[in-house]
Amino acid sequence: MSQTLTLRRPDDMHLHLRDGAMLAAVAPESARDFARAIIMPNLVPPVATGAEAAAYRARILAALPEDAAFEPLMTLYLTEATDPADVAAAAASGLVKAVKLYPAGATTNSHGGVRDLTKVRAVLEKMAEIGLPLCTHGEVTTPEVDIFDREAVFIDTVLDPLRRSLPDLRIVMEHITTEEGVAYAAEAKNLAATITTHHLILNRNHLLVGGIRPHYYCLPVAKREKHRLALRRAVTSGNPRYFLGTDSAPHVDALKEHACGCAGCFTATNTMPLLAHVFEEEGALDRLEAFTSLNGAAFYGLPPNSARLTLVKSAEPTAFPDKITSGAGPVTVFNPGFPVHWRVAS
Ligand code: DOR
Ligand code: ZN
Repeated sequence: MSQTLTLRRPDDMHLHLRDGAMLAAVAPESARDFARAIIMPNLVPPVATGAEAAAYRARILAALPEDAAFEPLMTLYLTEATDPADVAAAAASGLVKAVKLYPAGATTNSHGGVRDLTKVRAVLEKMAEIGLPLCTHGEVTTPEVDIFDREAVFIDTVLDPLRRSLPDLRIVMEHITTEEGVAYAAEAKNLAATITTHHLILNRNHLLVGGIRPHYYCLPVAKREKHRLALRRAVTSGNPRYFLGTDSAPHVDALKEHACGCAGCFTATNTMPLLAHVFEEEGALDRLEAFTSLNGAAFYGLPPNSARLTLVKSAEPTAFPDKITSGAGPVTVFNPGFPVHWRVAS
């Protein structure tokens, strides 16, 4: 007997689509299940101006299958040279839905990010005035701070002071990975948090015990089990401040399986079945739709999607592809390490 679950079509509020041959390979993977996605701007060079976002959006649309109904929601990469007037114009036209803060050096292609927040103060003030959200990669880059503590230290030393000094700025804590992040996002005004699929599945033992697993390496890095459990409680709590942002981040295998491997888990292909598995384990399948399809849209002021997506659970485990091929090389699809019986109905 199979079981089905029909939801409003989900939105992925944090997605890396890259460019060129990689974009061509991964855009259809997200468009298959998702209606919209907040597109990360950390290309080389970054998507830093309204004109660059418009051009990138056109390249994404050109990479989609003809029958795809997928809307890329564009973001700008915040730099110390960002012009508040350009941001305001890109937001007013409807092109840009958020600005992304990468602390310089925090992650993939973040070297052009922000070193000194005072240098972007005028941009942040303009965003607070017009209600444009700031998406934060919430990790400090201070060498002395342990990588497992970087999110909690960011909350105390960067995020909380910023919110106090600019309370009208709407902020998304991207891909939170800790109980501190869950607690901070729970009640604060003008604040929400995205949570990835893989951080609901992985703790740091999965990454490191029995051999290093490069396809489980991402940033922020997976933390202790108690943090994974806090994330699971958050997504199934019904609190609308938490919503899905997969952070699906493709890198070719040659750069993942490498002496200095890139950070990123590629989950676009199987995210919805994996989430159905996780929510079912938590006895909360009835809360999946809010997490994937309602809360994020509400925060971004978008109507919920009217189309639906149906998930099917069968007795046989679903056979997801091990890899997708791209013109840049193969990309490994996230393997949770346990059988998953859910799939998206075709
Ligand atoms: O794991 C990650 N991969 N985390 C990030 O913050 C960036 C992303 C990427 O672009 O590869
Ligand atoms: Zn990301």
